[in-house]
Amino acid sequence: MDFEFTEEQRMAIDGARRFAQEKLAPAVAELDEKGEVNLKALKELGGLGYLGMTVAEEDGGSALGAVAYAGSMIEFSKVDAGCAVAVSVQNSLVNDAVAHFGTPAQRKRFLPKLASGEWIGCFSLTEAGAGSDPASMRTTAKRQDGGFVLNGTKNFTTNGGIADAIIVFTRSEAPPGGKPGISAFLLTKDAPGFKVGKHENKMGIRTSSTTEMVFEDCRLPADALLGEEGKGLKVALATLDGGRIGIASQAVGIAEGALEEAVRYAKERVQFGKPIAELEGLQFMLADMATEVEVAKTMLFRVAWMKDAGKPRFTKEAAMLKLYASEMAHRVCHKAVQVHGGYGFMKEYKVERLYRDQRITEIYEGTSEIQRYVIARSILGA
Ligand code: CAA
Repeated sequence: MDFEFTEEQRMAIDGARRFAQEKLAPAVAELDEKGEVNLKALKELGGLGYLGMTVAEEDGGSALGAVAYAGSMIEFSKVDAGCAVAVSVQNSLVNDAVAHFGTPAQRKRFLPKLASGEWIGCFSLTEAGAGSDPASMRTTAKRQDGGFVLNGTKNFTTNGGIADAIIVFTRSEAPPGGKPGISAFLLTKDAPGFKVGKHENKMGIRTSSTTEMVFEDCRLPADALLGEEGKGLKVALATLDGGRIGIASQAVGIAEGALEEAVRYAKERVQFGKPIAELEGLQFMLADMATEVEVAKTMLFRVAWMKDAGKPRFTKEAAMLKLYASEMAHRVCHKAVQVHGGYGFMKEYKVERLYRDQRITEIYEGTSEIQRYVIARSILGA
């Protein structure tokens, strides 16, 4: 067992920290206020290899691996959690799905452009009536003229408004001799009959784009199918195992950012004639926060290591990690605001944004309740 980063991993994480400080930090407060994406920075991250971290070099990626990705995600999330989720969706949900389920032609067409940041990708699974239960989705794909015609509306799609490449999941007809099911498709934003719908106005991660995706008689060729017809739910759920590592690293980054702010503030803020960091009540709070961040971080790098080691399945571990890291981040951000007192409630203080940004980590890519369900059925062998 080796708890040291390799030289390459360390360099990637240090580079992410520098990028976050130099390129994300100066813009994040204003973009958060306006609800706008830092697309310029996101594209730059592509040029630096951070949008293709688990993509093989022969497919145009930087192949730095899941551990380097998780460590870099922590650094981006500390500063701009909205930008971080865009990085996470690109790496974990889009690139990984194309790499694992794509045909050689799909990999060749999509991966180099995604890994370089020329294209931004999104993963459109959720619908208004199908969130925790994606199997109940209503968007359809009907076979027509040797291809498919898609109809329906997806919602809450991260990166929706900035996406060039789209993975969408639909209910599909039974193929000849087969059963009906869910199918995944890979398309570009210029597909006829596709348009971006409503842009959401969110509580947190306001520097990310979240939209509806509207398909009205959207015609796709047969080779737009991603993976086997009718087996799309497997594509979604297997991909989400990796996605949950990304969201857990986002939660760890937000929590670590909040802890650092709380420590700094506690040393500066004087009450009762001394810095509040000298009060035992505050010290115990900070000690609990630091311990919880460390536990989640250790777990994060272990699950990321499992992915890098090519373990065939880490569903239970990814669910445990995402559950713990997101709920830990909730507790840590709550305490960080408390340490700041009234100032923590004010927008001038970074913890106010981290507190809002944290909340979604307990909801997207599977709510805490869904993670508990996945863990329970795994340990019960159900
Ligand atoms: N890996 C590979 N295959 C898997 C799998 C996994 N982790 N989990 C399930 N499967 C397979 C099953 O074996 C099954 O295959 P067969 O049809 O061949 O038997 C198939 O996938 C369907 O699995 P289930 O029968 O278990 O499916 P279910 O309908 O009972 O759902 C669930 C299970 C755990 C509740 C699942 O629906 C779930 O995880 N829900 C949460 C949805 C979610 O996370 N949404 C996130 C949206 S994307 C997002 O949030 C991105 C963003 O914005 C940042």
